[in-house]
Amino acid sequence: MIIKKNGPLKGSIRVPGDKSISHRAIMLGSLSDGKTEVDNFLMGDDCISTISCFRQLGIPIDLDSNKHKVTIHGKGLDGLTAPSNQVLDVGNSGTTIRLLSGILAGQSFPSIITGDASIVKRPMGRILTPLRQMDADIESKDNNNCAPLQINKLGRNVKLNGIHYHSPVASAQVKSCVLLAGLYADGETKVTEPYVSRNHTELMLSEFGASVHVSDNTASILPRPKLTGRKINVPGDISSAAYFIAAALIVANSELLIKNVGINPTRDGILQVCRMMEADISLENIRTDGGEPSADILVRHSNLKGIEIGGSIIPTLIDEIPIIAVLSCFAEGKTIIKNAEELKVKESNRIEVIVKNLTNMGADITATDDGMIINGGKTLHGAKIDSKLDHRIAMAFTVAGLAADGSTSILDPECVNISYPEFFKDILGFNQ
Ligand code: S3P
Repeated sequence: MIIKKNGPLKGSIRVPGDKSISHRAIMLGSLSDGKTEVDNFLMGDDCISTISCFRQLGIPIDLDSNKHKVTIHGKGLDGLTAPSNQVLDVGNSGTTIRLLSGILAGQSFPSIITGDASIVKRPMGRILTPLRQMDADIESKDNNNCAPLQINKLGRNVKLNGIHYHSPVASAQVKSCVLLAGLYADGETKVTEPYVSRNHTELMLSEFGASVHVSDNTASILPRPKLTGRKINVPGDISSAAYFIAAALIVANSELLIKNVGINPTRDGILQVCRMMEADISLENIRTDGGEPSADILVRHSNLKGIEIGGSIIPTLIDEIPIIAVLSCFAEGKTIIKNAEELKVKESNRIEVIVKNLTNMGADITATDDGMIINGGKTLHGAKIDSKLDHRIAMAFTVAGLAADGSTSILDPECVNISYPEFFKDILGFNQ
């Protein structure tokens, strides 16, 4: 995919549905009694992997891809059946493998779960530890704390052990895994994390009828709720909107309205970063549906300032760091990103991949152990970008290419299908 400097982004756009919420809608819809209808579902490869796993676990799921509509015929907490294929395949999806492992740990049938070449390198020790504390019988088949994971069945009338888990990482995937296992426990299950991570699981579990309690950095759940199917309207994904926000900020004369974007405060770090950078950005039409707030975001080309970010804001923008790094190259002064070591275990080692690719484009950027330092204001020039099959790298560097001199070539661009299949058509469509 070749990207060249492009004209302003003007008018309005809608981005696809939120990936995290789409996954959870399939999972909780499957564990509920009755029908769950999901509108604005993200038809990206990761969420399709979740659908295919739950179909294999015996849940009928109807898909109308053109209308982004999914209907799940849930069978209740005990309605899953042994997978029709021996091995459940999550593809590239970390959310699917970690959340689904929590659910599978509570079942009375065995299962094996794995994924693609990237998934089998990502750390699973972070879910094996709490699940074993809950008495789940789960192992890494190659004994390396990575997938494939083998989950052995619980004995008849045996329940998981409700625990209070203190997670060493602020990770919604870990928290959600433990809370979902907690559905099958013998008492309350609690998770405390160092900083609050995205809370879509807690919000959606409550909407479906579970008893969930949240206080500061701790979320807890009571076992065996009766979950009831419902309608879910998925807001646009702020992680996808971030590429359009950034493009409008750095391409001269842009003025763009991004409609219907989720602005859950555990996900809105990118908006805070824009404000700290003195960007011209505002929210309109703020509303809430199913506990999830959303808004239209109006953004205009701006002169940006370098900033320093770290600590509790990091989990609220963890997936946006590739695009924040790009933005920082167009800001005046120094940007420091710290406490973001989790970037090393995402779909690629994002610290390494961001720094290498931005250096190739002429940026002044240095990797640190837990983030990076960028001295903004250097002109970027087109380069060959190795996406490492990481969707967020491919999209962030497409935006960089829109404002760089010369032409930028994105390798393996089809990896955007993971979270935003129409990305190139949408981002390149403003000047046609
Ligand atoms: C996600 C949580 C985040 C995020 C991922 C989606 C989720 O991972 O990076 O893209 O849906 O729960 P961690 O919670 O492991 O940081």
